[in-house]
Amino acid sequence: MTVETSKLHPTLHRLRAAFQGLLPLCPDIAAFCDGALGEGHSEMPLEARGLPVLDDLPGIAGMGCAMTQGVVDAVLVAAPHLAWRQSYTVDDPGFDADYLSHYGWFNLIAPSGPFVSERLRLSVGYWGKVLHYPRHWHKPEEIYLTLAGEARYISEGRADIMGGPGATVAHHSGQPHAAAMETAPLLAAAFWRGAELEAKPGLG
Ligand SMILES: [Fe+2]
Repeated sequence: MTVETSKLHPTLHRLRAAFQGLLPLCPDIAAFCDGALGEGHSEMPLEARGLPVLDDLPGIAGMGCAMTQGVVDAVLVAAPHLAWRQSYTVDDPGFDADYLSHYGWFNLIAPSGPFVSERLRLSVGYWGKVLHYPRHWHKPEEIYLTLAGEARYISEGRADIMGGPGATVAHHSGQPHAAAMETAPLLAAAFWRGAELEAKPGLG
């Protein structure tokens, strides 16, 4: 399907293309995606939905690296055309209104769209500096890729990883993990594969 006949905003195509451009540079992500990041997705247009976090997003513009900056730039351009979401509410432990003002994510590829895949979910999330993403877990396997900023990735069973732009951090199914944005905000991609691709993570 060409951009001209697509039901999705052109900036979403450019963002997907930017991710595809990373694959030769990220063999672990290329292997993880196993072709599911390529062209040929069906499309499910989602109504654009903003969140307060969009006011923070421009601040991360220059915090990528040579490998990720193209994706960072594409996220910023696509941001107004995306369906921004949050997995948690003030009723979840560790989240309050201030947290929710500086956090949000969107799906680029998922069973529910906008690019449809039944075997891969690619979402991108932003967390403001000093936020702590509490210990959580989920059934799908995961690779995080820091696009811009930095986080301390805290994963059960191994030493913490300070992950700046270009760093990848993998979790197996059900492996509890957390992230601390101590030195900078974080813009990160999360690649998921396996069962329950759109289930809310378990906390605690
Ligand atoms: Fe995760």
